[in-house]
Amino acid sequence: MTQHISIPLKDSYKLFNHGPVSIITSAHGDKRNIMAAAWIMPLDFSPARVAVVIDKNTYTRELVNASGEFGLQFPMRKIARLTLEVGDVSGRDTDKFSHFDIKTFSGSTIAAPFIEDCIGWLECKVIKQGAEEMDLIVGEVVAAYADPEQFIDGRWHFSDDPQKRSIHYMAGGEFYITGESFRIESDYSGE
Ligand SMILES: Cc1cc2nc3c(=O)[nH]c(=O)nc-3n(C[C@H](O)[C@H](O)[C@H](O)COP(=O)(O)O)c2cc1C
Repeated sequence: MTQHISIPLKDSYKLFNHGPVSIITSAHGDKRNIMAAAWIMPLDFSPARVAVVIDKNTYTRELVNASGEFGLQFPMRKIARLTLEVGDVSGRDTDKFSHFDIKTFSGSTIAAPFIEDCIGWLECKVIKQGAEEMDLIVGEVVAAYADPEQFIDGRWHFSDDPQKRSIHYMAGGEFYITGESFRIESDYSGE
């Protein structure tokens, strides 16, 4: 099973500030679901908030609306195919967890399951929906976890193994793997 460590909520934005694609999980009663989502972003430090776009026609949206909760996680390269495929099939007709043989584990405060082989996981509660014509949802992060092999001393140290790195979605089945970091000391910091 993937290891995970708790992260202070105020630092939870660091888990996805680099713009990885995500997987959203949801559950309500005995129903559960999983979909891919590229249109997600951090929105605030404290309280920690996220913005996610979940199309009103998705089964995920139905479960998120009904439960007021969702799980947000950032898949490793090793599950890129799964990420694409859970974004191509609707859970309305198929239980994607059994169909794709997805292993799950539980969070602490939400019913939505988490999946393995991710770099970070967020438990989110819906606090606002966008205007009727939009698919925007704003969530508050109530728990955050990261892969302790790669999130060390409050920042990412991505693995040399490309299979463990996060991924970024372009379109049409094309992804990028998160690349090398570099650091700059601003000449203007503190001004
Ligand atoms: C890589 C990828 C990223 C996607 N990003 C989003 C997104 O940000 N928002 C969205 O509503 N749908 C997005 N989709 C489409 C949903 O994942 C897709 O409609 C999915 O089948 C919905 O499943 P559901 O009906 O089981 O909830 C994406 C699909 C892929 C493959």
